[in-house]
Amino acid sequence: MELISQRRSIRQFKPDPVPRQLIEQVLEAARWAPSGGNRQGFRFIVVQSPAMLARMDQAVARAVEALLQHVRPEFREEFARYSGNFMHFAQAPLVIAPIYRSYREGTDFLTMITGGTHSDDRGPLKADADSLAAVSAAIMNLLLAVHTLGLGACWMTGPLFARTSLSKLLEVPRSWEIAALIPLGYAQHRPAAPERRPLARLITYLD
Ligand SMILES: Cc1cc2nc3c(=O)[nH]c(=O)nc-3n(C[C@H](O)[C@H](O)[C@H](O)COP(=O)(O)O)c2cc1C
Repeated sequence: MELISQRRSIRQFKPDPVPRQLIEQVLEAARWAPSGGNRQGFRFIVVQSPAMLARMDQAVARAVEALLQHVRPEFREEFARYSGNFMHFAQAPLVIAPIYRSYREGTDFLTMITGGTHSDDRGPLKADADSLAAVSAAIMNLLLAVHTLGLGACWMTGPLFARTSLSKLLEVPRSWEIAALIPLGYAQHRPAAPERRPLARLITYLD
């Protein structure tokens, strides 16, 4: 419980590099995540090149700038605050991009085994949803390992405004999607824990 509750999202980092051995320990934790059918449809791209980090940073800045043109004036300030939360990922010594296999282009399992005659409530998105769930479990394992090892990281989906450019830059294979960008390094700050809803508000007992 201590590990789970003490982990924080870290968004500012010391410039010190992270040894390869620690990066691999963190990814080793991710590797053990559960996945639907144990398909393990996740991989990890580790970006340490300052030039590549700068290109990713620029891609996100461009996407945010383009979006800003469409934001109504009364929401601009809020959007600036919001985007400020994911514009600085490239200041970390490294960024991990977990990717997951998207089955959108292929045949989903149910269509395959019924010859396409049957569908159920889960629909064709089931395979995609399972892969995204599995990579999310891997990310959670990773974040807990990060904290245990005295490092800091932040699960960021905000930069995915630039998903298409980022996929090109990182040479993400066809049928794979970036799940998040995770800046990783030694924490520059120790944020206070954001409040959580009380447990009683989260539970419905059907006795
Ligand atoms: C799916 C997901 C996406 C997130 N995206 C961002 C993001 O783009 N930028 C950011 O600064 N934090 C992001 N976060 C971190 C949350 O803001 C953070 O987990 C939450 O405020 C609780 O703080 P804590 O992680 O320190 O407990 C994201 C978290 C999750 C789970």
